[in-house]
Amino acid sequence: MSGDSDKNMAVIGAGTMGRGIAQVFAQAGFESYLFDAIPEAVQSAVGQIGKMLDRAVEKGKMSADGGAAAKGRIKPVAALSDVPPCGLVVEAIIEDPEIKIETLKSVQSLVTDGGILASNTSSISITRLAAQTDHPDRFIGMHFFNPVPVMKLVEVVRGLQTSDETVNRTIELAKTVGKTPVQCNDHPGFVSNRVLMPMINEAVFALQDGVADAQAIDDIMKLGMNHPMGPLALADLIGLDVCLFIMEVLHRDLGEDRYRPCPLLRRMVEAGRLGRKSRQGFFRYE
Ligand code: 3HC
Repeated sequence: MSGDSDKNMAVIGAGTMGRGIAQVFAQAGFESYLFDAIPEAVQSAVGQIGKMLDRAVEKGKMSADGGAAAKGRIKPVAALSDVPPCGLVVEAIIEDPEIKIETLKSVQSLVTDGGILASNTSSISITRLAAQTDHPDRFIGMHFFNPVPVMKLVEVVRGLQTSDETVNRTIELAKTVGKTPVQCNDHPGFVSNRVLMPMINEAVFALQDGVADAQAIDDIMKLGMNHPMGPLALADLIGLDVCLFIMEVLHRDLGEDRYRPCPLLRRMVEAGRLGRKSRQGFFRYE
């Protein structure tokens, strides 16, 4: 990357993850362009990011000037044509392979020559997505964790076609925004969700089987295992639809019964109880 485009990045998708990613890059000095197919989502994201930055200033974690400067670097855009050339474009839209491929095809022209196109996918194959782009060697998984401003990890997922240079530069970019990158290869669920989701799924089986109620399951895992939150509250934070989708990917692509999504998880999603975002999941949220 060279010139001003070095400090231009774009996030495609202004949901929970996209807005968090835009925020951390803006805090680190990047002009962060934020686009969503639903324009209201961008406006709502800008409001949320503003509140998060205000809170950081109130808590003394950031100077008032620093907070104002970061806010100024969040650039909401209504059309992709308003995005200048960017050294990094991160896709963070819904987990639907076909929609992702279509979106990646339409945003790849925003990336500078030599720039990087990344996906924040939690489980779709990076190799498969890369194959649909014009520069698969410069395509990579940059998997952030919720809440993005707090969680240190970026799981850097290397597709079959990803070049060494792309991996190294992605690692540097993650460090530049204060994250800790850890590299892994493209395989269903990568490392994070291959290990995390079966634990969450098993907690739902324990609830379904009446082993204990939701609060007790979470208390046992929190207090006994020193997890910051229980698996069912974590599922509510992630979104039960996302958890189900990832379990389906693991089940289908790894082909083993041990990844079978719990029927109760499926029923919760069918009932529209998706967790925090719908104010009801395994717990209720006001
Ligand atoms: N956005 C930004 N900041 C947030 C936040 C949010 N949504 N939620 C909490 N925070 C900040 C708070 O402001 C607070 O900051 P401070 O230390 O500067 O005051 C700090 O986080 C701690 O928050 P709280 O005191 O309110 O609450 P906790 O100490 O219980 O921490 C938590 C909340 C950080 C969410 C903690 O419970 C935790 O780490 N939980 C596990 C989260 C996790 O595992 N995430 C990964 C999910 S998997 C994923 O994302 C991958 C995907 O592919 C599925």
